[in-house]
Amino acid sequence: MNVQTLIIKSNHPDYEENMNKQIKIKKKIGGGSYGLVFSLDNEHVIKIFKDSTLNNTILNETNYLLPIKNENRELIFFFKFKNAKKEHNYIISLYAIGLIRDKITYENTKFDENSYFIILPYCTPFYETHKILNSPLIYSSNGIKFTLEVMRRLLELSEFLETKYDYVNIDLHLDNFLFSHKSKDLKDLIMIDFSIIKKNFKNKKYNVNNNKYYIWPNENNLPLEYIPSYCISMNGLELLFGHNRLIEFLNKDFINYSLKVIQSKNKHIYNIFYNGLVLKITTQKFIKLINQFFTNHISTL
Ligand SMILES: Nc1ncnc2c1ncn2[C@@H]1O[C@H](COP(=O)(O)OP(=O)(O)OP(=O)(O)O)[C@@H](O)[C@H]1O
Ligand SMILES: [Mg+2]
Repeated sequence: MNVQTLIIKSNHPDYEENMNKQIKIKKKIGGGSYGLVFSLDNEHVIKIFKDSTLNNTILNETNYLLPIKNENRELIFFFKFKNAKKEHNYIISLYAIGLIRDKITYENTKFDENSYFIILPYCTPFYETHKILNSPLIYSSNGIKFTLEVMRRLLELSEFLETKYDYVNIDLHLDNFLFSHKSKDLKDLIMIDFSIIKKNFKNKKYNVNNNKYYIWPNENNLPLEYIPSYCISMNGLELLFGHNRLIEFLNKDFINYSLKVIQSKNKHIYNIFYNGLVLKITTQKFIKLINQFFTNHISTL
């Protein structure tokens, strides 16, 4: 499908600012609540936003934890940081921001004229590279070690966003972490999807409800900075016990049950998950705790 576009911001020589460009869309490769993602013919991808046109999009962050309809936090983020020098390998590069000039319909999704899109490099999803969505890792010491390494990488990515940009991403499921090239190395795992980031106001507390998203805690008056560790611990449980198991038994009992299983295997690993899920801990402190395990207790696995 060919789509007429106007490029408004560019960070890549293939896209010229303030120019019309015809873009050839190859196939749909993903999509969720905020947009559909398609591959292009140049190893790039386009994410076209649903309900987000030039006229209706709110580009100022509201005070709510979650964006209101038409508020596009991913665009807010990329408009702000599009020129940020890429001295890191933590978050996906932005290649361009633009508007589609025609109305388009893809299957049941309609995009209005002047819908916003972003263009990004093509990356490989974590679970596509490591086919372990339902292969519980709890049964092998290598599996547990790998789980902690993945958690540490996700924490480092969150820490980068928190300290460099003062944003907290609360959409920290492994679906939103991709390998930046054909690597399996966790050093190349980067963060995508800034749809539900929140500026970190240190003293503000939020009511969080895990009926909305299973990786979230169910807690009132929770400071934002405890959410990443909790979500990343939930990713850890998913790796240890398998996605289906986690979803099937999702409630407080599952967390208690999994903590008991972990406790019976290794008290240090239990301590890590207890901190993330029960005590609540900041990202930086959680990284320290995991690093201490690798320094002092790895031989207990
Ligand atoms: N740069 C990319 N390279 C390859 N695949 C991608 C890329 N960006 C996104 N995807 C795929 O598309 C999916 C959806 O993208 P993204 O998470 O940005 O959209 P979303 O609408 O906010 O989704 P959701 O609501 O499900 O979080 C990703 O989980 C991933 O599988
Ligand atoms: Mg996503």
